[in-house]
Amino acid sequence: MYPQERMRRLRATPRMRRMLREDALRPEQLVQPLFVDENIAERREVVTLPGQYALPLGKVGEECSRIERLGVGAVLLFGITCRKDPLGSEAWNHEGVVQSAVREAKTACDIPIITDLCLCEYTDHGHCGQLRHDQVDNDATLELYGRIAVSQARAGADMVAPSGMMDGQVAAIRSALDREGFQGTGIMAYSAKFASCFYGPFRDMVGSAPSNGDRRSHQMDPANARQAMREMRLDAEEGADMLMVKPALPYLDIICRARDELELPICAYQVSGEYAMIRSAAANGMIDGRQAMMESLSCIQRAGADIIITYFATEAARELRCVNGA
Ligand code: PBG
Repeated sequence: MYPQERMRRLRATPRMRRMLREDALRPEQLVQPLFVDENIAERREVVTLPGQYALPLGKVGEECSRIERLGVGAVLLFGITCRKDPLGSEAWNHEGVVQSAVREAKTACDIPIITDLCLCEYTDHGHCGQLRHDQVDNDATLELYGRIAVSQARAGADMVAPSGMMDGQVAAIRSALDREGFQGTGIMAYSAKFASCFYGPFRDMVGSAPSNGDRRSHQMDPANARQAMREMRLDAEEGADMLMVKPALPYLDIICRARDELELPICAYQVSGEYAMIRSAAANGMIDGRQAMMESLSCIQRAGADIIITYFATEAARELRCVNGA
């Protein structure tokens, strides 16, 4: 007798398949990154990220409202400036590009606003912190991160997302925020952030590639899973509200392990290079772009991500509304 157990019974019809789907993405789990450029007057397509636009101040409120209406969970803001110096002091300017963008978004709508917190977009050397003898000075940088966090919180950010991978950054930011009365501002910690080539398109666009050297003395070695768990545990102890794994698709094992072993919400960042790969393969007729988008997001969720930061957020949210008949 050929097998009694036949897996295909449960896959026979679309309705059967729909009923048995184990996990379904919701638009509210997606976070859309947005670039705000203080040097432009009109929105401009990002060459390295087709379909993504840098926005001028003045267009941020409108764009956030549009994203909110699609049901996307939150927006992650990045600033682009040409006012750079060795310390990156523009990053904590109350009138700076991100601070102004947050105020604009908060006036226009209610979608949660998360701000990337790093110095590489603001230092003239492109490193993530203050340099001393050509090395990033960890402890001096922590004080600067505290200032950035307070200025972003004061502008109205719901959460700050420190991405510099300095030791002790979550604790330093938590105490700076609390000291200034921002106990309610959350921290989404880029905890397991790997030294990845998949950030290439992002660095080209925000002009944050380091002018010399690389980030391997603070970002993690892609081969290290146990160390990623230590990073995440430390950030949890230091007071992070959410833990992030970045990039996403090549690091599904880390996401899975984090979800199994830790209790905080786990967030995965599908980064610029992952987006660019799907987009360019689709543009060359090699894969179906829409299906690749949905499949990749669904797999990141299946691995254990509660929240996914992705350049596809807006598009995927639109897709999910069609599928769910909303
Ligand atoms: C640092 C930061 C980076 C990204 C997010 N925050 C770049 C880096 O570490 O060099 C990468 C995002 C992406 O590639 O989509 N501020």
